[in-house]
Amino acid sequence: MAEYKLLTKDIGVEGLQTLPVYERRGGYQALRTALRDRTPDEIIEQVKISGLRGRGGAGFPTGTKWSFLPRDVFPRYLCINADESEPGCFKDRYLIDENPHQLIEGIVIAAYALQVQHAFLYIRGEYHDQRLLLERCVEEARAAGYIGERILGSDFGCDVIVHGGAGAYICGEETALIDSLEGFRGQPRLKPPFPAVKGLYGKPTVVNNVETLSNLPHIVSRGGEWFKAIGTERSTGTRVWCCSGHIERPGCYEMELGRPIRELFEEHCGGMWKGRSLKAFQPGGGSMQVLLPEHLDLPLDMDAVMKAGSSLGAGAMMFMDETTCLVNVSMRLVDFYHHESCGKCAPCREGTYFESQLMHRLEAGVATLDELDTLKDICANMDGKCFCPLGDTATWFVMSAYRHFRAEFEAHCGAGACPVTGAHRPLLAGTA
Ligand SMILES: Cc1cc2nc3c(=O)[nH]c(=O)nc-3n(C[C@H](O)[C@H](O)[C@H](O)COP(=O)(O)O)c2cc1C
Ligand code: SF4
Repeated sequence: MAEYKLLTKDIGVEGLQTLPVYERRGGYQALRTALRDRTPDEIIEQVKISGLRGRGGAGFPTGTKWSFLPRDVFPRYLCINADESEPGCFKDRYLIDENPHQLIEGIVIAAYALQVQHAFLYIRGEYHDQRLLLERCVEEARAAGYIGERILGSDFGCDVIVHGGAGAYICGEETALIDSLEGFRGQPRLKPPFPAVKGLYGKPTVVNNVETLSNLPHIVSRGGEWFKAIGTERSTGTRVWCCSGHIERPGCYEMELGRPIRELFEEHCGGMWKGRSLKAFQPGGGSMQVLLPEHLDLPLDMDAVMKAGSSLGAGAMMFMDETTCLVNVSMRLVDFYHHESCGKCAPCREGTYFESQLMHRLEAGVATLDELDTLKDICANMDGKCFCPLGDTATWFVMSAYRHFRAEFEAHCGAGACPVTGAHRPLLAGTA
């Protein structure tokens, strides 16, 4: 079983969430090396060589993103994105729960490389226990001299501030996160200017995901070339896959990039539960397009999955068995986006409302075939026309499900019930 353990190698060691145990496992040695033996530019160079791409969804190369910061503008900020509200995604929570100091070490290394004196760890409101854990670990690290002034006797000082969100999906979008941190209602900002030039408090800012930063201690201690040799040419390293749905063993599994999805599904997840068969799966969380059993042989490689019409996104694999109604799943996801739309732009604010209304009529078996065309029209008027990606992604699952399972969508029209599950669902008020 090819489970490549890098970020998760020490998970399971008793007390890993405490500083002494983390240190006994070699923790904070990479930070020591960084401060003593490397210049900030050398670290940025190693991150570039490593080929590390952001684990928050878009997969942008981390070293390149860092080098967009203007050279002589200070102060500058680092925001750590622990908002993790993507449906199906729980790998950042797992990394925080199980190895919080690895993240904190990664944060301080990144802060040193970027010459940042204030790093803000933005964590979603629902992760209350994880916020308390991080606050405790930050205090432990501060008391040991890993955070604060003159870290480990060097000239470099940095504080880490843990900030709890209030539970809005849009606050995971980097500019909305910055708005929220500044105390405003979290809504995306127009880009450009990009955060690297004008971010938090109008200053150069880098926003990075929890898993992205957790890789840094390993890149610093073993080097960019070593990291680059893991995975594929353009998808280097490992990823922590959070797997859910109708599988025998839901959970988080770390695997080298480039291995087949089938290996994750069959060996780690134990395949479908109760001997059932796989009908469809989403490889990157609720925002991503649905794939079919024939796609199981694709490699866990960002570009290969994109070529097949979907994305590895935030690393959330959701598997659906033969009893699943794709209209029902689409309806539930559309409801999520409708609920989470921040309301700033009309295509998303209005589009998700009409999408949701139509999906409820379809699922209840009262929509007509013509309404399927209306659904397609609504989605066409959203995708690529919204202010931020939330509105675009609100159409991706439903349209891909429609493409792959058209007969199932059509069979719902006028059926009076769900033809897959037989469920008679009452219409929502306002959808008749
Ligand atoms: C609606 C929306 C929600 C997002 N939620 C998250 C999130 O919860 N966590 C995250 O790291 N990135 C999220 N992103 C992506 C961030 O905007 C950003 O690209 C990412 O944090 C950059 O970090 P990385 O380069 O390390 O991947 C979201 C993007 C959008 C459009
Ligand atoms: S697309 Fe949706 S979430 Fe994004 S700005 Fe527009 S209304 Fe807000």
